[in-house]
Amino acid sequence: MHEQIKKISLAVMEKLKDADSLNLINDIRVKFLGKNGEVTALFKNLKSCPPDQRPKIGQLINDLRNQVELAIKEHENKVAEREKNKKLAQETLDITLSKKTRKVGALHPLNQVIEEISQIFIGLGFAVKDGPEIELDYYNFEALNIPADHPSRDEQDTFYINDNILLRTQTSAVQVRIMEKEAPPLRIICPGKVYRPDDDASHSPIFHQIEGLVIDKNITLCDLKALLDNFARSYFSSQTKTRLRPSYFPFTEPSVEVDLSCAICNGKGCSLCKGTGWIELLGAGIVNPRVLEYAGIDSKEYSGLAFGMGVERAAMIKYGIPDIRLFYENDYRFLKQYR
Ligand code: DAH
Repeated sequence: MHEQIKKISLAVMEKLKDADSLNLINDIRVKFLGKNGEVTALFKNLKSCPPDQRPKIGQLINDLRNQVELAIKEHENKVAEREKNKKLAQETLDITLSKKTRKVGALHPLNQVIEEISQIFIGLGFAVKDGPEIELDYYNFEALNIPADHPSRDEQDTFYINDNILLRTQTSAVQVRIMEKEAPPLRIICPGKVYRPDDDASHSPIFHQIEGLVIDKNITLCDLKALLDNFARSYFSSQTKTRLRPSYFPFTEPSVEVDLSCAICNGKGCSLCKGTGWIELLGAGIVNPRVLEYAGIDSKEYSGLAFGMGVERAAMIKYGIPDIRLFYENDYRFLKQYR
């Protein structure tokens, strides 16, 4: 009996050494401690021992069973722990893995320019208005004192839909529309698309303008100059100066072209400003009394200033963009520079 107990004890230890899974360990438990297991068999054989030795041998078998149970349990804990760690390692999420990136969209540079310029005028107390792109001849020309024989009326310069309807060629078309609806004093800007049959490096058939209009008592060229100086310093640079040059527009009297001091050469003359030190920015003037009368405003009581600025032109000057067509090609390499 002693021999047998020792053999079983060794056999359990031997088998456990190789058992590296919970299933194998369970097999060992069944083989030794199960109903038909080898340790259980010893208890059954106890009957065949001489009665006086039974208590002692029974005790030995009990010790063996406890020892086997303990050994299996300990080994089982070890293997269970190892299996758990292995599983955890396999299920680890590697959060350092880089994700698939998506390109983030942004406002088109022209919309950014419109937004930025609008904010400057909003800060000066202006309201932002809009008007129709498909416009009546009346608002685009007639009410702006552009007579029927004026060159800009030529079919060449305007997309006509019929005799009375056209694609507006200038945001000045909103001037009379607004003045008809709202009583002075007025301070408005109107950004929007305009259309002309031109197409080259500095002209596009669709482009953008921002119209400005102030109607109040005693408005003079001084107010215009001060307003545009203020704008130019805010939008271009604190060093930027403006210059008014005499010009002609049917809807203003007097009319001026407004130039900016060249930011590249600071007025000394370079290739950008063609040696003049100045860059033409926009057309402006004191609203022609006839336009006020068209809109039903008493030109003896009120006067006004107006200006019309090309958005693309302002952006090209500010960012040194050489070709207007870059704005419409939607080349991502161009657009992303203005995010
Ligand atoms: N509408 C003119 C153009 O498209 C620009 C302009 C000039 C607008 C003088 C004005 C203005 O309001 O007073 O060239």
